[in-house]
Amino acid sequence: MKADSMNNKKIYLKSFGCQMNAFDTEMIGALLTEENNNRITGDPQDADIIIVNTCSIRKHAETRAINHLHKLSRINNAVLAVCGCMAQRMGIELKKIVPGIDIISGPDNYKQLVSILSGNLDEISNTILLERKHDTTYKLPVRCNEEQFRPSKFLSITRGCENYCTYCIVPYLRGDLRSKAPDIVISEINRMHISGVREVTLLGQNVMAYQYGDVDFTSLVELILDKTGIDRIRFLTTHPKDITMELFHIMAANSRVCNHIHLPLQSGSNRILKLMGRKYTREDYISSVEEARKIVPDLAITTDIIVGFPTEDESDFEKTMELIEYIRFDSAFTFKYSPREGTSAYRMDDNVSVDTKKKRLERLNKRVKEIRYDIFSKLNGRKFKILLDGRTKKGKNQYIKGRTTHFRNVKVNKSSLKEGEFINVKLKKLEGFTFIGEEI
Ligand code: 5AD
Ligand code: SF4
Repeated sequence: MKADSMNNKKIYLKSFGCQMNAFDTEMIGALLTEENNNRITGDPQDADIIIVNTCSIRKHAETRAINHLHKLSRINNAVLAVCGCMAQRMGIELKKIVPGIDIISGPDNYKQLVSILSGNLDEISNTILLERKHDTTYKLPVRCNEEQFRPSKFLSITRGCENYCTYCIVPYLRGDLRSKAPDIVISEINRMHISGVREVTLLGQNVMAYQYGDVDFTSLVELILDKTGIDRIRFLTTHPKDITMELFHIMAANSRVCNHIHLPLQSGSNRILKLMGRKYTREDYISSVEEARKIVPDLAITTDIIVGFPTEDESDFEKTMELIEYIRFDSAFTFKYSPREGTSAYRMDDNVSVDTKKKRLERLNKRVKEIRYDIFSKLNGRKFKILLDGRTKKGKNQYIKGRTTHFRNVKVNKSSLKEGEFINVKLKKLEGFTFIGEEI
């Protein structure tokens, strides 16, 4: 028996995958609760509607989501909606694996999904929404109450991707690149700012490819600086082939643009980069980083790396290891190559053994961590401005935590401080990769 009221619905949200998915999940939740008595619940057992936003980037991401869906589908009274990339990829097949699913919606169909879930839940059965659309007007309804308030928020400025890196399923699931109009971006940031948001992270599969009429990514950032009062701007993700030095000049000239860039390397071997269809060489990557660091000397760089791409041999892998030594990343997300049906790499022989992938990943992770520790430990004693964005507790101590412009975490033990405030801190010591700081 499904809930039958049009109002007072309780909604449970679960998001897998990237920040784009996190943004979409938050947007769906906000749209469903904006103008009625619906509310978000943290307990799926208590929910009338369960929405799971899924990811397809690697096999493992899908396995996790499916295991989770099996558990959630045992909750009898709720409508179960599955959306996102795995929903788009598998479509109706997903219902054969998890029969309890009521709605399947791809990433282009969230408006329809929201409208269906806003109606009478009794009338919902077997709804499949996978039509490709070119809508970029999805926007984040900003609400600012005790439960919801966060001083740092995501805002997607593009949808889709058309780079077609040979390993990547995203362009097939999220469609071609579409950029959101600058005036919508500006008005959304202004709304966020008025409601107390201090920092916005502009999201896109490749933000550097943003183009709306004459407005490219750097001019969008300039417009945001000019036409909004937002205190801090971050952005994710950038593709090395599209990076321009103009961006770093803006960063150097303006403390509101954070000194951090996520620049996926994927591999340090030119042969593998070519097979991946990345359209840059290791030399290009190195020279972009060197130039960027001349402009912004304390630039923090994070990255993504894949090990075990088809035909990757020891010498290819050594080139990746050499490059991480040279670049010195603040941190890296590292992955074992996972063949995705439909991509062009899927037709290549996945010839690196599971064991070799595992060993390369372990070696890479160990070194990434050591370098990270080395970079971080040299920062003790230095002073930074942080935006307080959350609370944590350890033993009897209540900490408030924040981030530096470089996206490094700092905890401060002082109860009078509030989220959303900027404070200056001196870094005292490291706990794992979080600094303990003292307000100055
Ligand atoms: N296998 C492993 N990792 C992948 N990524 C994308 N596709 C795959 C794949 N098939 C990684 C890339 C990308 C990050 C989001 O996920 O490193 O930058
Ligand atoms: Fe995000 Fe890509 Fe995963 Fe889709 S497949 S959720 S775009 S990481």
